[in-house]
Amino acid sequence: MKIGVICVSDRCAQGVCEDRSGKLMLELVADLADETVYRLVPDERLEIEFALCNLADDEGADVVLTTGGTGFAPRDVTPEATLAVIDRAAPGISEAIRQKSLAVTPNAMLSRAVSGIRGKTLIVNLPGSPKAVRESLEVVLPVLPHAVETMSGNTQNCGGNYGK
Ligand code: MTE
Repeated sequence: MKIGVICVSDRCAQGVCEDRSGKLMLELVADLADETVYRLVPDERLEIEFALCNLADDEGADVVLTTGGTGFAPRDVTPEATLAVIDRAAPGISEAIRQKSLAVTPNAMLSRAVSGIRGKTLIVNLPGSPKAVRESLEVVLPVLPHAVETMSGNTQNCGGNYGK
């Protein structure tokens, strides 16, 4: 599985601070991914859209995970950029992340993260902090193999034990 990681952060893109969340994400997907690709972009809608399309269409990533820009701050536009490039929504993934995260912090309801499919690439938004990345990936990583399998048209394992 090829996994793309996009850190969306003005401060990291300016070099003011280090991208700890994207780095953590790359570590946490290492066992699942045969290959990873990484991008760092500011909270600019067009730059986020370009990075998403680049990883999905040109790099052929099976899954693209974003971190950051999902909240209520004026420059948080990762969900809008994602919605602009997906063909089909996959709300269950973001619902599950928020549901599990609410057990940890009520602030989970402040993430507007979305998920969806562009071509044969699944895009999932995660919040920006390393803590949130860790908590969210615990929810989403187990279902990725079956998600990628079904996106490729193979539904043989539906009803099987994937994700348990
Ligand atoms: N989800 C989990 N699992 N753990 C967290 O600590 N933080 C929340 C929320 N989701 C959090 C979480 C907070 S404080 C905010 S403001 C929103 O995600 C949006 O974060 P973002 O703007 O960095 O994407």
